[in-house]
Amino acid sequence: MEIITSHTNADFDSLAAMVAARKIYPDAILVFSGSADASVKQYLKSNADWLKILHLSDINLKEITKIILVDTREIHRLGELGPLIEKPGIEVHVYDHHPTSYRDIVGEKNVIKPIGSAATIFVEIIRERKIPITSQEATLFCAGIYVDTGSLTFATTTAEDAEAAEWLLKQGADLQVVGEYLNRNLTEEQRNLLNALLASLEYKTMEGQSIVIASAEVEEYVEDLAVLVHRLVDRESVSAVFAVVRMGDRIYVVGRSVSPLVNVGEILVEQGGGGHHTAASACIKGTDLKKTKNELLETIDKKIRRRLTLGIEAFERPQRASILKIEDWSTVPNHVIDLLKSIGERASQASINVFVVGGFVRDLLLGVKNLDLDLVVEGDGIAFARLLADQLKGSFFSFEKFGTASVVLPDHLKIDVATARKEFYARPAALPEVAGTSLKQDLIRRDFSINGMAVKLNPPDFGQLIDFFNGQRDLQHGVLRVMHPLSFIDDPTRIFRAVRFEERYHFRMDSHTEKLLKDALREGMIKHLSMERISNEIVLILSEPNPLPAVRRMASLRILSLIHPDLKLSQKTIEIMEALPDAIAKFPSSEIERWIVYAITLLSGLNPSQTNEVLTTLRWSGKEKDKFSILLSDWRKTFQTLQSENPVKPSALSKLLEGLSPEALIFLSSPKSGHTLSRIQQYWSQLHKIDLLVTGKDLVAMGFKPGPDYSRMLEKLKAAQLDGEIKTKEEAKEFLRKSGDHEKTLD
Ligand code: CTP
Repeated sequence: MEIITSHTNADFDSLAAMVAARKIYPDAILVFSGSADASVKQYLKSNADWLKILHLSDINLKEITKIILVDTREIHRLGELGPLIEKPGIEVHVYDHHPTSYRDIVGEKNVIKPIGSAATIFVEIIRERKIPITSQEATLFCAGIYVDTGSLTFATTTAEDAEAAEWLLKQGADLQVVGEYLNRNLTEEQRNLLNALLASLEYKTMEGQSIVIASAEVEEYVEDLAVLVHRLVDRESVSAVFAVVRMGDRIYVVGRSVSPLVNVGEILVEQGGGGHHTAASACIKGTDLKKTKNELLETIDKKIRRRLTLGIEAFERPQRASILKIEDWSTVPNHVIDLLKSIGERASQASINVFVVGGFVRDLLLGVKNLDLDLVVEGDGIAFARLLADQLKGSFFSFEKFGTASVVLPDHLKIDVATARKEFYARPAALPEVAGTSLKQDLIRRDFSINGMAVKLNPPDFGQLIDFFNGQRDLQHGVLRVMHPLSFIDDPTRIFRAVRFEERYHFRMDSHTEKLLKDALREGMIKHLSMERISNEIVLILSEPNPLPAVRRMASLRILSLIHPDLKLSQKTIEIMEALPDAIAKFPSSEIERWIVYAITLLSGLNPSQTNEVLTTLRWSGKEKDKFSILLSDWRKTFQTLQSENPVKPSALSKLLEGLSPEALIFLSSPKSGHTLSRIQQYWSQLHKIDLLVTGKDLVAMGFKPGPDYSRMLEKLKAAQLDGEIKTKEEAKEFLRKSGDHEKTLD
């Protein structure tokens, strides 16, 4: 089955692009990966018949063989469809107009154009192939283009968008209908103001950031200027939009930004207002619109420059001090340092720059051992990885869809190689013009400043620490800081990562980061993640040496209840978790999966049916299920028996604990009460793998016929053996003979 889909919360442009894509892929089915925005929902009400759009719940995901992805190439914007993109055997075609972002999907076919609307990409193909379209289709495609280009006025609008719109008008697109959906729900005053703002747009480029300024004057106060500004924002393609409106004797300024370099909050503070990096406003007494606008422009310019110089200076004038000294590498074995040096030399021979980035650099500076080698290459990362694999005799895997590859060396050391995107896409196979530009682009899209540092491997700069974003300072101060305000929106798994890193290193998020995390939670960003990804993150948290603080933090941030409304962290659970490290230390570590011990404890307050729900939700109902089986039994009773002062015969103990996973036994042994621990240890060391004194062969020789009696008798023998009533083979045979006669009399 072929499907055409787009990002969750589909807007008009994604809807238009999906429908237009069907003209090119007529056998494909249109499927929303999640919900749709209000205007699209409204449109669907009267157009559902011909659009024929399905929801994920209407199709069988297993039948998908090809995904045509439009208006996005970011995996986390695909909801439950995300994991399918990574599945081998599913062909992916990508049609998108957004700027590159962290780990874009690369399909078997990629049509990426930096233009105003995704629908335009398809309209061009439709025109070229002379595929007929109806006036209804023309109207929809036109609406898509108008929405994403602000009716062809946004700075991102290109001649292609305008030509596509012109052609659609000739095909019968109805602008009245387009206008209706574009400006739905606005009052007449708002519509008038919006039109005035649209007519006034001024475009500025400041330090590579595209800024749009809209201005207008009205005599009466008009509500919800922010809503109008929202309409002006092509959220992904313009860096920031500001509206400056005089309403009577006051001037209102509203700003919105999608760029890490434009912090509208800090800009509008200077105008006496406030807000966040992404959205802010100010209200100024006075009527001199021009003056306010000029001051605003000056502030924007000043603030962008300040943000840029902080980072770029550090790179353009790398200081000697930023070369890592030999003792800084003390946590890295010599053979790995030699390997990194040789990778740098090979990269220089291939005329590309290579850096080791992320967790390796963070842990290097912290003096923590970490041999996860993540490399970023300014150039074609996959080709370089292939070269390394050939030269170092390693095995090679590539993930073309993400422009990444892995090399596993003969000594099992794994090297992940990524492509620093920008230049690679702009001009395939060409070298970046300015060394370091694409590295910076790569790093700024990462999660936290402490994970956004790189170390150059090329000679003669081997060991040069590149820290655009004050990662070193944050490491020293124990601060976890997002690289930019959209970090948690870009990738909500970072919510879990934040909690994990905080507790692992005893760091704290700065207040801004914590606020952004809470905003992302409040806006339900976790729902945009597939359950597989959530589950992976929980497993990572529970695999930390001491997961309790992170679990507490998840509880206080109300993340646990998002997994299951009844999942709570009770005092009892906390106590058991506190005792787990001791309990785990008493068991041979190779036999257990630590995270499962913690997961059992975490879920131990739920009843069996709630447990089943969580196991299914978190995809722990496959091969792990048996390990959790204790939670589906009456384990509290088992615990009472283990604790009791009354003697428990070895055979009874064995029956009680039989079939429980070692992880479950550790969970039971953790509260230090009564005889629990000694009984579990007795079971584990002496009872659970006892060899019977007689074998099946012996039974046959004794004249027993295989059947149900057989195992019943062996069970009895096992119990007697466990309880020390039988010690030799002869005694065992005698016992069987007697119980065989007894079984016969029973029959
Ligand atoms: N990264 C990111 N956002 C994510 C996942 C990863 O920005 N959601 C980036 C970070 O720069 C990170 C790097 O990719 O340092 C490597 O990711 P990963 O190996 O998952 O994590 P580490 O930071 O190495 O942490 P860990 O010690 O847990 O492996």
